[in-house]
Amino acid sequence: MLAETCHGCHGPNGVSMGPAAPTIAGFDRQYLIRVLQEFREDERESTIMGRIMTGYRPAEIRRMASYFAAQTWASADVQLDRVVVEQGRAIHEHACVECHQDGGRHQDRDTPRIAGQWPIYLLFQLESFRDRPTSIRQPSKMREALEALSDDDLGALAQYYASER
Ligand code: HEC
Ligand code: HEC
Repeated sequence: MLAETCHGCHGPNGVSMGPAAPTIAGFDRQYLIRVLQEFREDERESTIMGRIMTGYRPAEIRRMASYFAAQTWASADVQLDRVVVEQGRAIHEHACVECHQDGGRHQDRDTPRIAGQWPIYLLFQLESFRDRPTSIRQPSKMREALEALSDDDLGALAQYYASER
């Protein structure tokens, strides 16, 4: 019942139906708890989640995290440019594969799945991580890797991860 508030944007069962909200189904429970708490405490840049999460208590956050962690991931269905996807793959293999293994499918309590995520959301996140590096917690190695990348590079990475369904 708590998670019904989230369905409008993250879709039924955490599979987002639109490009601006991420799919969160099947994410690691500890990752979800941390991120939702960071939104709540205003420690994580957001357009909308900060406001939403102020209404929830820690116990409710844990219950919603359990619910979404138990759902099944489904990748976004989007049109992609093959040439751009290959450009993104090359950057990924050079700078990102160490942590975002298996084409970005790997996830754990620190790292979210990014394979098959909505590319518009991924690009938005990458711009935030690169341009406002303290606005979202991130490993220093990721910050260093992003510093060297252009807007086109970030667009190509977003397309590449979206292609890894
Ligand atoms: C009005 C649309 C909307 C609603 C309702 C909403 N979200 Fe979000 N959610 C977003 C957007 C957009 C983002 C990207 C961050 C931002 O800009 O706020 C996001 C990001 C997230 C993330 C971060 C994913 C990541 O990998 O960083 C989680 C987790 C999340 N939402 C969970 C929830 C939960 C749980 C609820 C219900 C209590 C909820 N959301 C309600 C739109 C929404
Ligand atoms: C040292 C490990 C590491 C490296 C290298 C790294 N990342 Fe990350 N990445 C992470 C972690 C951990 C997070 C979660 C940060 C958080 O939100 O707390 C993350 C988050 C992300 C997100 C946000 C996902 C979401 O749902 O909000 C994207 C997109 C991303 N990384 C892409 C990249 C790209 C592209 C590169 C290479 C240029 C890269 N990462 C390099 C560890 C890494």
